[in-house]
Amino acid sequence: MILVVFLYLSSFLSITFTKAFITPAYLNSSCPSSLNFTINSIYHSNLKLLFSTLSSNATFNTSNGDSQVFFSNATAGQAPDEVHGLFLCRRDLNSTICQDCVTFATRNVTKICPTGKLAIIWYDECLLRYSNQPFFSSVWQNPPISVSSAEGVTEADKFDDSVLSFMSAAASDAATSRYKFAGAKKENFRVNKTLYVLLQCTQDLPAGDCLACLQRANADLLWCCGGKRGGRVLTPSCISRFELYSFFGESFITTVELEAPGPPPPVSRFPPAPGPATEPQGKVINLLVVNIEYPFMNYIFNVRKF
Ligand SMILES: *[C@@H]1O[C@H](CO)[C@@H](O)[C@H](O)[C@H]1NC(C)=O
Ligand SMILES: *[C@@H]1O[C@H](CO)[C@@H](O)[C@H](O)[C@H]1NC(C)=O
Ligand SMILES: *[C@@H]1O[C@H](CO)[C@@H](O)[C@H](O)[C@H]1NC(C)=O
Ligand SMILES: *[C@@H]1O[C@H](CO)[C@@H](O)[C@H](O)[C@H]1NC(C)=O
Ligand SMILES: *[C@@H]1O[C@H](CO)[C@@H](O)[C@H](O)[C@H]1NC(C)=O
Ligand SMILES: *[C@@H]1O[C@H](CO)[C@@H](O)[C@H](O)[C@H]1NC(C)=O
Ligand SMILES: *[C@@H]1O[C@H](CO)[C@@H](O)[C@H](O)[C@H]1NC(C)=O
Ligand SMILES: *[C@@H]1O[C@H](CO)[C@@H](O)[C@H](O)[C@H]1NC(C)=O
Repeated sequence: MILVVFLYLSSFLSITFTKAFITPAYLNSSCPSSLNFTINSIYHSNLKLLFSTLSSNATFNTSNGDSQVFFSNATAGQAPDEVHGLFLCRRDLNSTICQDCVTFATRNVTKICPTGKLAIIWYDECLLRYSNQPFFSSVWQNPPISVSSAEGVTEADKFDDSVLSFMSAAASDAATSRYKFAGAKKENFRVNKTLYVLLQCTQDLPAGDCLACLQRANADLLWCCGGKRGGRVLTPSCISRFELYSFFGESFITTVELEAPGPPPPVSRFPPAPGPATEPQGKVINLLVVNIEYPFMNYIFNVRKF
């Protein structure tokens, strides 16, 4: 009888209190084997402190009134054992997914890089990075990782050109937005398809650096995923992705462009007014065609090996 009650209670407790984690989709990681810390050293305990700070930050509301935290940077300990770290969650995902992703990332990176002084791990939902060197507020493009769709498209060159010009405009939107995020779609793309793109930078980057990071990532998309139906480039500072299917909530679409079947849409000669940054609420119909030369040659590039 006592055993039955106990079993009943324990099953009740496990149902009530065991949190079911949403497993994030692992993409890749990087951890140089040349810089190790010693187990149970001060650096090690600072790293654990950093992980717990970042994990708990993913659950809290920010002081500026946002209901959710998508990005957080933190520093633990003091020189010479200081550890700097950050996480970035995709802006279109909810706080449960973000929180679980950051928690998974801190656990898995410990397995992948048990003694690495610096590392980065990418999931579809979030990225986590830490280092013994300060790295906030500057662009890091290395290493880039990519994920390509296996399926190809017809008329690949034309397809890639249209994708990249749309992504270039979306990169500008992301760089100047409050969350350094843009979700955009182009309807009637290649006759009867819809192109969906998502671009995001870590929030510590200034607009110009975010734009440089995204333009570079977009250029790399051509290299990894040219002629494919979808692709992603992820770097330590920004992510860029396109697909011919909807992979994020419609409510996060900040720009909709309708490909003009007949006469071209009116082209404004002036850039959009830099009005106050607002939350993406519903759709902002943006028919402005923005043409930006790709600044391939002058993006900021940190050659530090990582
Ligand atoms: C991870 O990145 C490395 C280096 O870019 C690459 O060789 C490897 O195939 C990637 N792994 C996965 C699972 O994408
Ligand atoms: C660092 O640790 C890894 C294993 O965790 C090992 O393979 C590597 O050789 C170490 N590097 C140095 C410089 O000791
Ligand atoms: C992250 O957590 C630390 C310590 O709990 C706190 O001081 C800091 O303000 C938090 N940052 C954010 C962005 O919530
Ligand atoms: C966080 O914000 C949400 C929505 O604004 C609110 O309902 C919730 O109570 C807040 N949570 C905390 C811990 O402040
Ligand atoms: C996060 O980064 C910003 C920008 O560099 C910096 O001002 C702030 O102090 C950092 N926060 C922590 C906890 O290191
Ligand atoms: C977050 O999204 C996931 C997957 O869409 C869903 O299962 C979960 O209930 C959502 N959580 C909240 C708090 O909205
Ligand atoms: C943990 O990392 C390994 C790569 O070492 C990967 O195969 C696995 O999917 C990851 N799991 C989670 C839950 O992050
Ligand atoms: C889109 O067009 C292609 C070729 O023009 C055709 O094969 C396909 O069935 C069309 N799909 C839809 C959903 O109309």
